[in-house]
Amino acid sequence: MMNQQAALSVSQVTCEYREHLLGADQFVPRFGWKLISKRRGIKQQAYQLVVSDAADFSLSLWDTGRVESDQSLHIEYAGPTLQSRTRYYYRVQVWDQEDNCSDWSSIGWWETAFLHSDEWQADWIMPMQRSTVKQSGEWPDSPPVTLLRKTVQLKGNIVSARVYATAAGLYDLHLNGERVGEELLAPGWTSYHHRHQYQTYDVTRYLHAGGNGIGIRVADGWYSGRISWEKGFRSAYGAYRAALLELHVQYADGSEEVVLTDETWKTSEGPIRYTSIYDGEIYDARLEDAGWSKYEYDDSAWENAFPIDLPYNPLIAQENWPVKVTETIRPVSVLHTPRGETVLDMGQNMVGRIRINMNLDAGTKITLYHAEVLDREGNFYTGNLRSAKQLVEYTARGKGEDNYAPAFTFMGFRYVRILGLEELADSVLIKGFTGEVMHSDMVQTGQFACSDERVNRLQQNIVWGQRGNFVDIPTDCPQRDERLGWTGDAQVFIRTAAFNYQVAPFFAKWLRDLAADQREDGSVPFTIPSILKWNQDTSAAWGDAAVICPWTQYQCYGDIRLLSEQYDSMKAWVNYIRGEGEYEYLWNTGHHFGDWLALDAKENSYVGATPLDLIATSFYAYSVDLVRNAAVVLGRTEDVKEFSDLLYQVRRAYQNEFVTPAGRLAAPMQTAHVLALMFGLVEGDTKRRTASELNRMVVQNDYHLTTGFVGTPYLCFVLSENGYHETAVKLLLQDSYPSWLYSIAQGATTIWEHWDGIKSDGTFWSDDMNSYNHYAYGAIGDWMYRYLAGLDMEDTDIAYKKIRINPRFAAGQLNYASAKLDSSYGIIESSWQEDQGHRTVRIQIPVNTEAKIILEGANLAQLMESGLSVEEVEGIFEIISTSEGVELRAGSGEYEFSYKYS
Ligand code: BGC
Repeated sequence: MMNQQAALSVSQVTCEYREHLLGADQFVPRFGWKLISKRRGIKQQAYQLVVSDAADFSLSLWDTGRVESDQSLHIEYAGPTLQSRTRYYYRVQVWDQEDNCSDWSSIGWWETAFLHSDEWQADWIMPMQRSTVKQSGEWPDSPPVTLLRKTVQLKGNIVSARVYATAAGLYDLHLNGERVGEELLAPGWTSYHHRHQYQTYDVTRYLHAGGNGIGIRVADGWYSGRISWEKGFRSAYGAYRAALLELHVQYADGSEEVVLTDETWKTSEGPIRYTSIYDGEIYDARLEDAGWSKYEYDDSAWENAFPIDLPYNPLIAQENWPVKVTETIRPVSVLHTPRGETVLDMGQNMVGRIRINMNLDAGTKITLYHAEVLDREGNFYTGNLRSAKQLVEYTARGKGEDNYAPAFTFMGFRYVRILGLEELADSVLIKGFTGEVMHSDMVQTGQFACSDERVNRLQQNIVWGQRGNFVDIPTDCPQRDERLGWTGDAQVFIRTAAFNYQVAPFFAKWLRDLAADQREDGSVPFTIPSILKWNQDTSAAWGDAAVICPWTQYQCYGDIRLLSEQYDSMKAWVNYIRGEGEYEYLWNTGHHFGDWLALDAKENSYVGATPLDLIATSFYAYSVDLVRNAAVVLGRTEDVKEFSDLLYQVRRAYQNEFVTPAGRLAAPMQTAHVLALMFGLVEGDTKRRTASELNRMVVQNDYHLTTGFVGTPYLCFVLSENGYHETAVKLLLQDSYPSWLYSIAQGATTIWEHWDGIKSDGTFWSDDMNSYNHYAYGAIGDWMYRYLAGLDMEDTDIAYKKIRINPRFAAGQLNYASAKLDSSYGIIESSWQEDQGHRTVRIQIPVNTEAKIILEGANLAQLMESGLSVEEVEGIFEIISTSEGVELRAGSGEYEFSYKYS
């Protein structure tokens, strides 16, 4: 057994999707790894995984020994019971099919936090209730941000120290005068009464022997702040702010010191006079005291905090990627608008905050307003924010450099209007302000590009839409008084999201909140976390997120554990629908958003013309189908039978109700046809007729769509799948209204909520609902990756183990498209280029997977791979000539096919 180094190596190891994971509370974490090799056709034959609590692996805690298996994802820990607050190291070695052995992988680690919530010793503490400080009239009431502090004497020889902390509200952590960690908006937004995240910080480097100071700042945030558009609605989870913290210090002699929040902590207030998610922040830097979290700070004037009786059992370790600043952007110009406003143009509709970095005179007051667009005249426009102020009022301290960015809020904006610095030169303003882009710090996994620059901008806009709306939860929009986890929006975008970024921990967290907030009767609230409690309705295509999202996560990441955790919730949703209609197999009752924002809506309505009962019944069938699939995967034999029967009945009921006896779909709307095709509701001649009718509607409309949130995501799929790919491509490349590229022609840098957010005469859709950063229509990204570039997996596959590369060339409309995905197995690429009747297709298949490659228009006699006839090539193990071209099966490796096409 030789060790052929270059031949096979482990390029990445993960535990619960991360190489290093600080603060985990899984009893049975799961491991995975990616492999690389310069050779083709390499598969994993066996692996050996070792877990140790020593970094040098001197003693192994769990050693699988050599396991004959090709599994390299989601391998469950099966060693001795894990201990809380312990770091574990892991590494893996693998063998390929020829028994070549890799080196040991690099060492990954994860560290447990509290595995049981009853291990918490600290008290939840809250500040003394202060009299509400009234702000300058227009601001809602809320006390300034709370400061909490405590000092502690530590001995020498600290080997490690951890803080475990959370808040009812939002918080950040300070030690000895320094802000700890990069997390923003911690502890994140969950269904707090059921699941409340805490964070783990490695604070070893912040502490020293002798006196140390600990500080926490606590703001209202989603917990007790203003949330939703309902006037005066706040305190969704409780009308208090509270914090919980434990500091555990480990000394070299093995002893431990623990500092806990309790009534000995001191509390006061600082420079953040007001903050709220929607409204922004008021900050008086003259009240800043950088020393407030230092040991020597004199807190004699501070009051004592007092304990509050909040439960520990909802506490869970952080599940999602933390929100961070992931990029900084400099303003591209300063505009002086016709109305005389001074406005920074960030060049990009972004989500996050502005940092001020200037030398200002003490007491100088700056106000920053944030807006997404300028109006037709070029003036600053905030009408579409509705009641959200998203503004910052900053009063300078004047003792040197002012360096400030709001801490507990975020804004959606491209333009920033500055009040208070009118006399400064543009160049000074450009230097003094920086945009900080904030979102859940997911790993970027996808790239798409093609020969049309407008489509490339569309792809960028989709990615920016994802960044701006993945701020701990999948939101509808990041600017107006909503920013809520609308289920329908999340459901339509999830598959695109899983191309662009690694979203497994992001959606796992949100789906657990969905299950937690699902009602007794199985219905799913409009938004998750659910705060619109006054509304007990649900809607088809929105509530179906309960089923579609876990299933999509299972497909994209093979996350069977999440699927089984969510299974009861999925079933409950379908059973809810079943109990709803007047007739068991149709869903023809209740409230529905329908084909939201479709262009066939009646004047002054948001609801498209496609009949609500048709949409509801279509999604009913789809969800039953997916729950049945989940039952198959999970081995729930009785459920498989029950849901197969139910699916049969729902499809029959659908056909009786919505298809004419002659086999025509009765509802003459694009979306009705899209859903029938996408969800398998029509077959044979009716299917062919439905597809051709859909194509006719699009062509007759001069290649324009009329679809809304429900039909749009699938429109191009069903056209491409049913013989009308050319129409699908024409729809994509259409740039007159309504179309994807219309907004690009209007200069959009994110995806709009409305097809005509800005009309061709420069006027706006009405203020009452007009976001310029709504990812729903960005769901076209999925089709761009899977159809245009051809990067997909087999229908029955999960996690891209059985890849399908099938570029759908674009008949002279595009001559190049390329997609890459850093999948759970490694990088997959599908890129094609056409040049004077000649095609080149570049493909990369990761080790331990294989691919079916479909090369349309190829002829076996002429098909070459890297200059050789395909029949002679290593890695390809099956070749079939078909009427459309050539189909190959290939193992891992990089391939370059070229052929003249006909
Ligand atoms: C949101 C949507 C959401 C919809 C429900 C809107 O206000 O922004 O994206 O899905 O309401 O119809």
